[in-house]
Amino acid sequence: MYDVEIIGTGSYVPENRVTNDDLSKIVDTSDEWIRTRTGIKERRISLTETTADLAVAAARRALDDAGVAAEELDLIIVATVTPDYFFPSTACFVQNSLGASRAACFDISAACTGFIFGLSIASQFIRTGMYQKALIIGAEALSKITDWEDRGTCVLFADGAGAAVIKRGNQGIISEVIGSDGSKGECLECPALPLKNVFIEAEEAKPPHAKMNGREVFKFAVNILPECILKILENTPYTLEDINHIIPHQANLRIIDSAAKKLQVDQAKFYVNLPSYGNTSSASIPIALDEMAKGKLIHKEDLLVLVGFGGGLTYGAMLIKWTIGGK
Ligand code: ACO
Repeated sequence: MYDVEIIGTGSYVPENRVTNDDLSKIVDTSDEWIRTRTGIKERRISLTETTADLAVAAARRALDDAGVAAEELDLIIVATVTPDYFFPSTACFVQNSLGASRAACFDISAACTGFIFGLSIASQFIRTGMYQKALIIGAEALSKITDWEDRGTCVLFADGAGAAVIKRGNQGIISEVIGSDGSKGECLECPALPLKNVFIEAEEAKPPHAKMNGREVFKFAVNILPECILKILENTPYTLEDINHIIPHQANLRIIDSAAKKLQVDQAKFYVNLPSYGNTSSASIPIALDEMAKGKLIHKEDLLVLVGFGGGLTYGAMLIKWTIGGK
């Protein structure tokens, strides 16, 4: 088995900034309610860029950062629940834009845990020796499936993309946990097309919108985050004290605070950029990772835990030793 390491990151968010006050002109809400219940202050909402555009922009930055040419990539995985097309996959659009002609390309759907699932899948291809270099992207234009009349959800979701390049090399990815609980699927869902064909009578399909049972998702999240963080450390020589940074899915500050309290971990260990970006689903973890890397907040040999939960319901975590940059 080969070892796998992250060698570059990139991210991209649309320019259009939407504040809580802007939203209070669209639905019955307030900056105060949104900030105190979620921690979000503003978010980016795309005016022109598609999910694939966001993905390509983040991917270019990650490739630049890694010093890897697109033609060197063996694999591109895009995690998204807001693709522009049923097919081709967003990953194939990315391949074409980058000129990554050698890469096998596909999308995965694991909602907000998508980046962790993607990283895990890509790592298996590298561990077994099948591939050497892979690009994993979390990209979402959630604004496309947001119900802009539902104040319970439209204040949460946002658009953006984050990416990482991984390769066969040092031991960067140490352990991983991924899991799913389909029995809770309806807590957080966005229907696609209903069954419709010439042999049956069917009503005209409404445009798809994300629906959420916020309280159920909250309950799930405050349990699964600490569980995943503890599980990822099992069978490793590390304890919570050894971890330098925890990068959680950016859904709600109260969920992150609750996980920190349960684990009795200093909240400062949890990286939070939710106030600026809102919940960008599969993009949230790689955007945060890239922001930390570019901000020189992560140093060589730091231990990181990426941890997420999302629609499915899905959950997952990764324990990573940072192998790039200086101490
Ligand atoms: N502005 C003002 N009032 C609001 C808003 C809003 N944007 N949204 C809901 N309310 C009202 C409700 O109508 C309700 O009013 P009522 O008491 O008169 O009926 C009141 O506020 C309380 O509503 P709750 O839904 O109970 O509010 P809660 O404190 O649970 O917060 C929230 C809602 C923030 C969604 C919370 O449940 C939550 O964070 N859940 C976790 C879900 C999550 O983070 N999802 C992220 C997306 S999914 C993912 O990333 C995987």
